[in-house]
Amino acid sequence: MEIALGTKAPNFRARTTLGEIDFYSWLDGNWGLLFSHPEDYTPVCTTELGLVAKLKSEFQERNIKAIALSVDSLDSHFGWIKDIELSMNTKVEFPIIADENKEVAKLYNMIHEHVSDNSTVRSVFIIGPDKRIRLILTYPMAVGRNFDEIIRVIDALQLTEKHSVVTPANWKQDEEVIISPDLKGDELEAQFPNGYKEVTNYLRYTSKPK
Ligand code: BEZ
Repeated sequence: MEIALGTKAPNFRARTTLGEIDFYSWLDGNWGLLFSHPEDYTPVCTTELGLVAKLKSEFQERNIKAIALSVDSLDSHFGWIKDIELSMNTKVEFPIIADENKEVAKLYNMIHEHVSDNSTVRSVFIIGPDKRIRLILTYPMAVGRNFDEIIRVIDALQLTEKHSVVTPANWKQDEEVIISPDLKGDELEAQFPNGYKEVTNYLRYTSKPK
């Protein structure tokens, strides 16, 4: 099955720390953040899962449901969660998939054999409410992810899907955006009555739509 931007995220059933789930039913029309980590009881992964736990309210505000995955067992996950909660001073309230038979990892191409035959790399998938994949990121084993960047992209995705705008390099919430290059003439005036700054006929800045 092809895993690429715009394709339908494949559904699966899995055992997780919050019980068995059907992925689509669990998403329940929300946005999804599905991310894999190489191994339980490892330092970088501990900081990553601790941080996702701490960002709970940021995800809730954006209607995002987070779910982690590794090929370790449920027992291993339950033991490690205690460490994460202690060391990162948080509560892990999102599910972690125990993908011991690597079914979901293979479905989503999370095992990169030139790196490891046995462990998932640090994959990130943002899935829209229509179940289509909106973002794919792959980080190496030794480098922890930047979840501020992941939230920044979610903000940009949610904004650009609602309005005829795109976001410039390094864009952050509340900064100016760019009017979609294909928007022209009367439509432009109607959608952006407060005006815009034209740098070239395809680079037109405007304030962030409400
Ligand atoms: C870690 O999470 O610390 C880690 C996992 C696999 C390889 C290297 C580091």
